[in-house]
Amino acid sequence: MRNLLVTRCLFIVATFVPSFLAADEPQALRTIAFGSCAHQEKPQPIWESVVAARPELFLFLGDNIYGDSENIDVLKAKYDKLAAISGFQKLKSTCPILATWDDHDFGGDDVGANYPKRVESQQLFFDFFGVPPDSPRRKQEGVYNAAIFGPPGKRVQIILLDCRYHRSPLKKREPQIKGQGNYEPNTDKTTTILGPAQWKWLEEQLKQPAEFRLIASGVQIIAEDHGYEKWMNFPHERERLFKLIRDTEATGVVLLSGDRHLAELSVLKDDTIGYPIYDLTSSGLNQGAKGWRKLEVNQHRVATMNFGNNFGVIAIDWDSKPPLIRLQIRDESGDITIQQKVLLSVLKAKSKPKSLTDPKLAKRHVGEEFAVEFVARSSGTSKTKEFLFVNTEEDFKDADNLTIVLDAKALDEDFHREHIDDPLKFFIGKKLRIRGTVHLRQDKPQILVNDWGQIELLEEQ
Ligand SMILES: [Fe+2]
Repeated sequence: MRNLLVTRCLFIVATFVPSFLAADEPQALRTIAFGSCAHQEKPQPIWESVVAARPELFLFLGDNIYGDSENIDVLKAKYDKLAAISGFQKLKSTCPILATWDDHDFGGDDVGANYPKRVESQQLFFDFFGVPPDSPRRKQEGVYNAAIFGPPGKRVQIILLDCRYHRSPLKKREPQIKGQGNYEPNTDKTTTILGPAQWKWLEEQLKQPAEFRLIASGVQIIAEDHGYEKWMNFPHERERLFKLIRDTEATGVVLLSGDRHLAELSVLKDDTIGYPIYDLTSSGLNQGAKGWRKLEVNQHRVATMNFGNNFGVIAIDWDSKPPLIRLQIRDESGDITIQQKVLLSVLKAKSKPKSLTDPKLAKRHVGEEFAVEFVARSSGTSKTKEFLFVNTEEDFKDADNLTIVLDAKALDEDFHREHIDDPLKFFIGKKLRIRGTVHLRQDKPQILVNDWGQIELLEEQ
């Protein structure tokens, strides 16, 4: 049996998680399948091929049902229909499922924050995907979720975004161009896709250590030319996402999306986030275009599957040196119709950041010299009083804490000159910039300071 251990689950993950997840040995995730757009009234034979691909995890990226109602009982009845589909039941019994939603399962075609039943719809979504009643996710606004699987060195982070709950109204383009979509970019920077709380949450997720990351969105993130739903309808939000990936130095990011009733692979060149960023779109599980679909313009397209039902597979070969990622689209028969091989080592910015200002990132830069900026939250000393500790967090045991280790003897004269009688109290609440080499002590990051020139007092809080 393939076993898989959830080593860290930042929120309670949706269930459909079989008992083998409680296995003792953490094993790296190697095969992840995903898909979107499954109409509950139509046959869904594709599940046989999804199961045959032996995924260890399935990601449902939205339009998981075609709910399209403001009547919650109607939505529930449609979820019940999905639950009764035998292929889906088979998947559910063999692999865990994590999910986000898109417009139709959220509640209606192309709807956003204006959908009046979003609170009720969220709870129904959680009921269907087995989120426990006491899960903290039940209290957040939106279904966004993240989890990290596998042991250090082979961690896969899954981030599922909610692009519906907070999404501002779309801007319609005039005149409409038949068959090319209804929308154009909205340049009003007060509009949003994720909303402030989800943005803050996403930043925290991207700072978590992981070797490979999948960020899933209901709608496409990279494609920008068509007039249907996409992140480019809010260009400032799309840019903010790329900037966040850059600023958090999150490596190993691949984007996943659905919604479009076609499959395609798009890529943006290195200067966007420092390395090539791919967006693998799979749609639909049974809503793919029935006939040959005329190619729409997509300046970022690498490959397309523009007719037929499909699902995506992310296969990770951890044994290859460096690890190799296969980004695949497979058709209803399970045949691979698109494949891009990407070395994991490529998904990393080439140039070293000039300044590490966020101490939470210190652990990623062991052995490197940087400047960190922070407000000193707590302090302490070694037993011998030889070293003074200044911490970036209230609790020095906090996973995000970086400890600045001050060599008391080396700095003694400096403390006198600066009239610092009690260094332990002096630094608390002060904003500091500390330069030095990051090293690990008992798996905790530290910077040793033995020269006053390493310390810069910025401002008091
Ligand atoms: Fe959709």
